[in-house]
Amino acid sequence: MQEDFNQLPAVLGRDLKDLDKYGSQGTAYIGKVVMSSGEKPVLGRKVLVDVSRPHLMLICGKRGGGKSYTLAVLMEEMARLDPVIKNRVSAITIDTVGIFWGLKLSAGNDSDLKDWDLSAQKTNVKVLVPKGQLAFYEEKKLPIDGAFTLKCSELEETEWMALFRLSWRDPEGILLSRAVQKVREKVGTYYGIDDIISAINSDEESDKSMRQGMISRMQMVKGWNLIEKEGTKISELASPGMITVIDVSSYRQTVGAEGVKDIVVALIGKKLFEQRMLYRKEEEVKLVTENKRSSKMPLVWMMIDEAHMFMPKDEANIALPVLLEWVRVGRQPGLGLILATQRPEKLHPDAISQCDLFISHRMTSQPDIAAVGALRPTYMSTDLNKLYAEMPRQKGFALVIDDNTEKVWMIKVRPRFSWDSSVTASAFLI
Ligand SMILES: Nc1ncnc2c1ncn2[C@@H]1O[C@H](COP(=O)(O)OP(=O)(O)O)[C@@H](O)[C@H]1O
Ligand SMILES: [Mg+2]
Repeated sequence: MQEDFNQLPAVLGRDLKDLDKYGSQGTAYIGKVVMSSGEKPVLGRKVLVDVSRPHLMLICGKRGGGKSYTLAVLMEEMARLDPVIKNRVSAITIDTVGIFWGLKLSAGNDSDLKDWDLSAQKTNVKVLVPKGQLAFYEEKKLPIDGAFTLKCSELEETEWMALFRLSWRDPEGILLSRAVQKVREKVGTYYGIDDIISAINSDEESDKSMRQGMISRMQMVKGWNLIEKEGTKISELASPGMITVIDVSSYRQTVGAEGVKDIVVALIGKKLFEQRMLYRKEEEVKLVTENKRSSKMPLVWMMIDEAHMFMPKDEANIALPVLLEWVRVGRQPGLGLILATQRPEKLHPDAISQCDLFISHRMTSQPDIAAVGALRPTYMSTDLNKLYAEMPRQKGFALVIDDNTEKVWMIKVRPRFSWDSSVTASAFLI
């Protein structure tokens, strides 16, 4: 009997060699190909995306287009990988809106799922919130797993300054970095905010009012319970087979804490990068001496919603240089990045030019479409505007442009197994 190729899934982001060797193992089922035009198009083959090797994926689309939903689908799929592969993959999601805790619950309505021969299920993810916000989440009975903190000594001078939006030009910035340096020289790597406060207090080169101002700002930071002597270990965040959600949404509303989410991303990104480089060396040695690929540290995916906040085109951001490292050289040591943004025009151009898998929900803003087209001329030859015009208006449709197969696909993203908290969550943000 002849094989029906139209029913075989399309595997994106995977070269022919891997396709022959692994087939559809280590992929994420994100949706189905759109086969006809109109608002209720006929759907065809399944679309699978490779998640067993690091990629730079960019998810675009206007607000409400389904970007966070698609991210959640990818997380659901990573949590359901074949155990052999799953144990080599870990994922960290930076949740800027506070919606991904919904993954821990089963979808409320499964009528869409039934149409797809799927069923509602919860997803095994670990949701961590800042320690200072734990009580709030518990009060609201949101399903979370615990708190995360940052280790005080891991913040370098530049990060402290970024926290207060200070620079080397500001006398406060100089005072702060002098104090941090002094504490480090005196006590090494085990110190807390109180130690920095006393170093500021005893600083003789600055005047009293400046010291007092800086101390009260440090006291405010102390009140967040985010930065402590002992911090969450990065190895806990990137453990094999685990998907960790770091909810930084609360800092959006806290006055004076706008820079906190940037510091969190910068520190996590930096630590993972450093560790991954070391393990990568170990892996290479093993590959040469024992001819096998094994490593304690898994392949790491970092997923960042609202990525333009951390990788802006024309603003400074403490997370930007770290993420640019991931973008430029991260794939070699096994660091994959999935960025979602409604403002590609505001995103650092490297994040667009280096991406190898582009998923775009509907976009209407011409500057945003042009930004993508200008950096990826090949995409423009597919006439994005025409494709967006043909895209059904209901939620969940997307174009997928894959550098590996050099093809453009129109897809419908599959319904989620787990609870879609995007509607409920918005109430918390008010
Ligand atoms: N594939 C989909 N199937 C069904 N509903 C979807 C789908 N994608 C998004 N939605 C719905 O559309 C709304 C907006 O989606 P969301 O992912 O929050 O958009 P964005 O992150 O792009 O602003 C949400 O309420 C979500 O439930
Ligand atoms: Mg969103």
